[in-house]
Amino acid sequence: MADTTTSPDPAEFPSAKPIAAQARFLLDYAILAPSSHNSQPWAFEVTENAIRVYADLSRQLTVADPDGRELFLSVGCAIENLLIAAERFGLEYTLEYVATDDTQPAGDDGLRHVATVGLDSGSSSPSETDSALFEAITDRHTNHRPFESTTVPEPLLARLERYANAAGLGLELVTDPAKRAEIAALQTSADERQFADPEYRAELGYWIGSGALGTKWLTARLSQLAVRHLDMGEREGRKNSTLVTSAPVIGVLTAASDDEAARLRAGQAFERIALTAASEGLAVHPMSQILEVGEFRDDLAALLALEEGSPLHLFRLGYAEPETTRTPRRPLEEVLR
Ligand SMILES: Cc1cc2nc3c(=O)[nH]c(=O)nc-3n(C[C@H](O)[C@H](O)[C@H](O)COP(=O)(O)O)c2cc1C
Repeated sequence: MADTTTSPDPAEFPSAKPIAAQARFLLDYAILAPSSHNSQPWAFEVTENAIRVYADLSRQLTVADPDGRELFLSVGCAIENLLIAAERFGLEYTLEYVATDDTQPAGDDGLRHVATVGLDSGSSSPSETDSALFEAITDRHTNHRPFESTTVPEPLLARLERYANAAGLGLELVTDPAKRAEIAALQTSADERQFADPEYRAELGYWIGSGALGTKWLTARLSQLAVRHLDMGEREGRKNSTLVTSAPVIGVLTAASDDEAARLRAGQAFERIALTAASEGLAVHPMSQILEVGEFRDDLAALLALEEGSPLHLFRLGYAEPETTRTPRRPLEEVLR
């Protein structure tokens, strides 16, 4: 995968050019969004005054994510970056989800139209909060390090919860050490289960080998071989369980219904949370294995005492040394229709 990690320069926004040119510029920010295994399962079509957003089902993690939850969440993250960037450059926007159901096939190219962002030149200027979120788009990186035990301030947690609620979602913020220990135990079991599956290892190995996760190619090839052929579940489980207990907060986004629109909205809310965290000097790390195994996902819902709805996305939140490795992105041309 080509390494296109250089950040776009806001000073180059083509304010005097037509909306379509401006829209294309915004996409440089959209593609910096996080995605599961850095699969970047999105595509975009720029029209005169809109951007059509597609989910690229050909990039689905069919073993880890058989029903596409992580895929649609990832597309939601890209949509949120797009909207925050539009706001930063004073564009008015509308967002319309395309009503679909899981049975609707994608086109021959694997693309399914999921949303349209309408754009218009406006006169609005972004609020301070939105400017901070925009700045964070290029600063945000998933942080895989152990977190410090420093407590996350309550007002910040309340702000994150408001973002989730505004998107019609719930946000469980688990700080109780006993509960975090139970989540860590689920993480260990889920890692062991996933790594015991040769197909799961092969899929992870494929994405590592493609360079998507950002290691240099020789290390990438070696890790690919190791992941493919060794059952590393116990080791990975121990490591990930320590990561869970090290985090002062485990966040879980929940939704009343687990459909495509809810997943897109959860992706948007998660990205807003991740950008807020980055702008406040906090680290975020999604951990999906518990949610990838139905049995453990049910255990998590029971542990959180969710009365209705399901957990859609789990992540660690806290303070940590900055992550130094960077993940590459596919060039914009590759995701333009
Ligand atoms: C829906 C979703 C699920 C993810 N699950 C995991 C995970 O289980 N473990 C992990 O280390 N990272 C996970 N990530 C983070 C991605 O690996 C990361 O976003 C991607 O490699 C790009 O790197 P960046 O976030 O630093 O830009 C997830 C991200 C998303 C959006």
